[in-house]
Amino acid sequence: MKKMMKWSMTLGALFLLGACGSGGKDSTSSESEDTNKLEEVKKAGVLKVGTSADFPPFEFHTMVDGKDTIVGADVDMVNTIAKELGVKVQWSDTEFDPMLASLQQGNLDMGVSGISATAERKKNMLFTENYYAPKQNVVIKKENMDKYTDIASLEGLKVGAQKGSIQEGIVKDQFTDSQLVAVGKIPSLVVEVKQGSIAALVLEDKIAESYVAQNEDLALADIEVASSDDESYAIALPKGSEDLQEELNKILDKLIDEGKIDEFVEKNTELANTQAK
Ligand code: ARG
Repeated sequence: MKKMMKWSMTLGALFLLGACGSGGKDSTSSESEDTNKLEEVKKAGVLKVGTSADFPPFEFHTMVDGKDTIVGADVDMVNTIAKELGVKVQWSDTEFDPMLASLQQGNLDMGVSGISATAERKKNMLFTENYYAPKQNVVIKKENMDKYTDIASLEGLKVGAQKGSIQEGIVKDQFTDSQLVAVGKIPSLVVEVKQGSIAALVLEDKIAESYVAQNEDLALADIEVASSDDESYAIALPKGSEDLQEELNKILDKLIDEGKIDEFVEKNTELANTQAK
């Protein structure tokens, strides 16, 4: 009897091992990893991608052959991914905050929008590996360069950030004596800085540089903003897309190794900076 019990326990253990090893459908294996989102996307033939195309050089609008088109480093990256998967891309351009909400609801296959893969966001969505590490910058009016020289000099003044972005948190945490103005689209904030209704705007490096290059009356302030290791960009996916996430990581690995992402950023920086002044 004792011997038989031992046998069946061993068999049970072997069965469990087998189930885990094959990543099979047995309830003992992690169910969340057993998804077929990749097949769904391939079958549909389209990748539904959400973005907020107000973020040069990663995603912005430009005229291509007389047609308003979304271009940028993220767009080049997504096009390469789609080609690998053999599918087309369907972009959905909204404000940043609703895009993240729509992604979590599963209305999008992925979000590609210079999205920082923060620990907080990881509670509600999946992320691929990081593909770009930004720094934080402050954009002000050129004429205020001597006036706004550090965070303290913005005391009592309005500082802008895109709604739902990590810059909102940065203003709240670091510009504690300023007043946060959170707005859905970045160009509206840029206009506010130009008009003087807000004193400054927090943006990530490449984006700040692009807007300054496009607006002669703006400048990068000499203001140090602390960064955290939570800020790097990654592709966001709804929970339950683990197989697609894995496939994207493989493609991203290759793109990063080959220096393609840097190439995309460089090419699109040039394109963005030639936009109307
Ligand atoms: N990296 C910042 C964040 O994830 C800002 C992203 C904003 N992206 C955009 N396309 N407007 O919160």
